[in-house]
Amino acid sequence: RLHNLKIIDIPKVQDPRGNLAFIEKDVIPFAIKRVYYLYDVPSSAHRGGHAHKKLYQVLVALSGSFEVHLKDGETETKITLNKPDKGLLIVPGIWREIGNFSSGSVCLVLASEDYDESDYIRNYERFQLFKRS
Ligand code: TYD
Repeated sequence: RLHNLKIIDIPKVQDPRGNLAFIEKDVIPFAIKRVYYLYDVPSSAHRGGHAHKKLYQVLVALSGSFEVHLKDGETETKITLNKPDKGLLIVPGIWREIGNFSSGSVCLVLASEDYDESDYIRNYERFQLFKRS
């Protein structure tokens, strides 16, 4: 199991009319600079397949479910996200692959930095070298 793995509880108001979850103040341990989401993902698709040098992210299954496979270079963990009030924090230097998306699932991503292709490590061998350096 990865030691720096963190599931964030997103505060919510439960109501018979429907639940309301909110992200404000210090719920997320970084300033959110960008928000994006994956949707209409075929169940056979694999997303991710990379690590980041500086980027922090929080993933939330806003709808449906998917599996996140995480590797820190030494150990690996699989997390199933299927609750809109749970966020998975992914710190820099973690290889991630996302798959097994349920039909209609939506993966929300809160990110600490603007999109920057030079922050990506898209080659697993390069990732291993990065972790050893
Ligand atoms: P990528 O981060 O590789 O997707 P995933 O990890 O979900 O499989 O991004 C896929 C493509 O989208 C890639 O060409 C870069 C582009 N992209 C942006 O233009 N802006 C963004 O904020 C993100 C996350 C990706």
